[in-house]
Amino acid sequence: MSKTIVLTGITTTGTPHLGNYAGAIRPGIEASRAADTESFFFLADYHALVKRSDPDLVAQSSLEIAASWLAAGLDPERVFFYRQSDIPEIPELTWVLTSLTAKGLMNRAHAYKAAVAENEATGKNDPDKGITMGLFCYPILMAADILMFKAHRVPVGRDQKQHVEMARDIAARVNHHYGELLVLPEADIDDDTAVLTGLDGRKMSKSYDNVIPLFSAEKRLRKLIMRIKTNSLEPGEPKDPDGCTLFGIYKAFASGAEVAALRARYEAGIAWGEAKQFLFEHLNDQLKPLRGEYERLLADPGYVEQVLQRGASRARERSVPLMQQIRAAVGIRP
Ligand code: TRP
Repeated sequence: MSKTIVLTGITTTGTPHLGNYAGAIRPGIEASRAADTESFFFLADYHALVKRSDPDLVAQSSLEIAASWLAAGLDPERVFFYRQSDIPEIPELTWVLTSLTAKGLMNRAHAYKAAVAENEATGKNDPDKGITMGLFCYPILMAADILMFKAHRVPVGRDQKQHVEMARDIAARVNHHYGELLVLPEADIDDDTAVLTGLDGRKMSKSYDNVIPLFSAEKRLRKLIMRIKTNSLEPGEPKDPDGCTLFGIYKAFASGAEVAALRARYEAGIAWGEAKQFLFEHLNDQLKPLRGEYERLLADPGYVEQVLQRGASRARERSVPLMQQIRAAVGIRP
C-alpha cells in the first residue's frame, strides 16, 4: 500500500509560540508516528524573505523553530525534516510553475487582495504601493513546496486553505500540459486542533505581537500569563470558561478530566489570579523537560545544522529525480 504524504512548513519569522506548538508541531509529531504516512516538515525560510524581516532574525528563527520541533520529540529519521533553502529544486520548480500560472489566479489571493484593499482604504494613489512580487507570487513558492514532494495532505490553518487550493489548480494545469507529473494536494483543516488566543484576546499570532513563546524561561512565562486579558468579575462570581483565553490555553494542554475540573472551578467563581497561577503551574510542569532540551539544542547549533543537512539530503533523493522529469517534460534537455 502506498503511503499518504503529509507536508507542512513554518515561516521563519519569529520565535515559536504556544499556538504553533498546539496547532502545528504537536499534532504533526503525533501524526508522523502513524505507519501509513510519510511526513515532511520544513522551515520556510524563503517565505520569510517576503515579509522583509531582519536577516539575523530569519537566521535565529530558523534555529529556534528547528530546535522546537526536535525538543518537542520529532524523530528526524522517521520524517523528512529540512530547510526549504537547502532544496535548490524548490526555487527551480517555482519558476516552472510561475511560467504556467495565470496572473488572474494570483490576483485572487487573499493576502494580495488585503494589501490592495488596505492601500485603497488609506487613500494611496497606487493600489500596489509597497507590494512586492514576492508577496504577489507567494502562493506559487508555496505550491512548489507542496508539489515537489507529491504531498497528498497539507495540514494548515484556515488562512492558508486558499493557497493549498491554488497549488492544486497549478498542479492540475501542469499535468494537463505535460502529463501526470504531480499529485493534487488537499488542505487538511482539523476543527479539533486548538487555535489559541493570545494576551489581548485575539488569535495568538506573531503578527499581533500577543504571543507566549513556547519555551519562555519560567519567570517570563509566569509574567506573560499574568498579563493575559480577562474581564473584571470579582473572586466568588461565576465565570464563563468558553471564550476565556486562559481556559482555551489550558484546554490545549490538559486531559478531558482536568478540563472538566477547571470548568467546575470557573462556575464556582475562581479568582482570576488563582486561575492564572494554576495555568502557569500546569504549563510549566509540562514544558519544563522540553525547555531543557530546547536550551541544550540552541547551545549546539552545529548539531541542529547537521540534522537539517541530513534531512535535506534525504529530501533531495525525492526532489532531484522529480525535477529531472519535469525539466525533460518542459523541454529543458541536454
Ligand atoms: N505559508 C505558510 C504560513 O505562513 C507556511 C508555508 C510555506 C507552508 N510553505 C508551505 C505551509 C507549504 C504548508 C505547506 O503559515
